[in-house]
Amino acid sequence: MESYTPRPSRRSDVAPFLAMDVMEAARKADASGENIAHLEVGQPGTPAPRLAREAVIRTLQDGDSLGYTVALGLPALRERLSQMYSDIHGLDVSAERIVVTTGSSAGFLLAFLSLFDAGARLALADPGYPSYRNILASVDIEPVRLEATLASGYQPDPALLAAARMKGQIDGLLFASPANPTGTALSREDMAALVSDCQTHGTAMISDEIYDRLWYGEKPVSALALTPDAFVINSFSKYYCMTGWRIGWMVVPPGLVRTVERLAQNHFICPPHISQIAALAALDAEDELNGHLEVYRRNRALLLETLPGLGFRDFAPADGAFYLYADVSQLTNDSMDFSRRMLTEAKVAAVPGTDFDPMRGKSTMRFSFAGSTETVERAAHSLTKWLG
Ligand SMILES: Cc1ncc(COP(=O)(O)O)c(C=O)c1O
Repeated sequence: MESYTPRPSRRSDVAPFLAMDVMEAARKADASGENIAHLEVGQPGTPAPRLAREAVIRTLQDGDSLGYTVALGLPALRERLSQMYSDIHGLDVSAERIVVTTGSSAGFLLAFLSLFDAGARLALADPGYPSYRNILASVDIEPVRLEATLASGYQPDPALLAAARMKGQIDGLLFASPANPTGTALSREDMAALVSDCQTHGTAMISDEIYDRLWYGEKPVSALALTPDAFVINSFSKYYCMTGWRIGWMVVPPGLVRTVERLAQNHFICPPHISQIAALAALDAEDELNGHLEVYRRNRALLLETLPGLGFRDFAPADGAFYLYADVSQLTNDSMDFSRRMLTEAKVAAVPGTDFDPMRGKSTMRFSFAGSTETVERAAHSLTKWLG
C-alpha cells in the first residue's frame, strides 16, 4: 500500500530565526558542562516582577477557574493600560482601542491580517527583527526591504520610501523605535516625517514600540502622539521581563477595533488568562522594573568600552532596547561562522547579522546586554582573551 507523506506548504517555507538557533546551540553547550555567556537572546535575565508573581499565586490559591476571557482582553487590564499611557506618555488613549494580545507576535499577525490582503506589499527597514518578514511571507504579504544605513540610524525615511514606491505599490510601512537589532530610536521629527509621508500616500502604518520603556538618552516618542491611524504594537516581554508569559497589547485605529476583535476571537479566542492577571499587576511594579534599567545601562557601557578595542566597529547608536549592533568586517567576512567560533572557542553566544539583514549581515553581529552584569563582564573578559 502506498503511504501518504505530508508535504509542507509553500507559505511555510520561511527562514529560521537564527537567534533561536544560536540559543539552542548555546543551551546544548551549557548542558554539556560549558558555562556560556549568553549575549544572544533579547530577554531579561530577571523574572517577572514580584507583584505579578504574587498575583498569580493568589489567583491559583483562590481556585479561580481561569477560563477564557473576552477576546480583546480583561477590561481591567485594558483600562489600566489606558491609564499607563496617560501616566507615562501623557497621552489620552481610550481603553476601547487597546487590545491585549498573545505577545506582540500575535499583535503583528492581527495587524497584518486586519490591514492587508494577500499580495499586499509592506515596507520595512533592513536590518530589522527577522520575524516581521517571516510572518508577512507566511500570510502572503510581500516584505519590501528598505536598505537603511548607519547614517540614518538604520531607520526608514521618506527618501527610502520614495525609492521603493518607484519600483511598485507600497501598502504599508512598519517601523520600530527603539529597534531590534540596532537599539536606535526615531526622533520626533523623523517619526513625524514618516507619518506625514504615509498619510499623504495612503500607506498604512505599524509602529513596534515594544522597547519604548528601555532608553538611555532621550525618551522615545510613541506614534500615538502623532496620529490615531497607526497600529501600535507593544509587549510585556521586555521592560516587564515577561517573555515566556506570552502577553502583549496593541493600540488600534478607532475604526478597526471590531475587525481585530473578529480575527482575535477566531485565531486565539483570548490571550492566556493567567498572564493577563500577571500583566495587570506588573503595571504597578515600576520601582522594581526601573532598577533593571540601571543594570542594562551598566552592561551597555561595559560593552561599549570593551568591544571597539577588539575590532568591532561602527556601532548603531544604541538609544534604547538592550542591543548593540556592530560591524565585524575587520574580524570576518562570515558572521555565521564567526558566531559559531565565538561560541565554541570563547564561550560567548551572540547573533550573526544575517538574521536581521540577509543581504549585508555577513559583516555584522548583534550583542544583547539584557542579562546580568556578571554575564556581560564574563563575556567581555572572554572576548578580550579570544581576540585581544
Ligand atoms: C522588535 C521586536 N518586536 C517583537 C518581538 C516579539 O516579542 P514578543 O515576546 O512580545 O512576542 C521581539 C522579540 O525579540 C522584538 O525584538
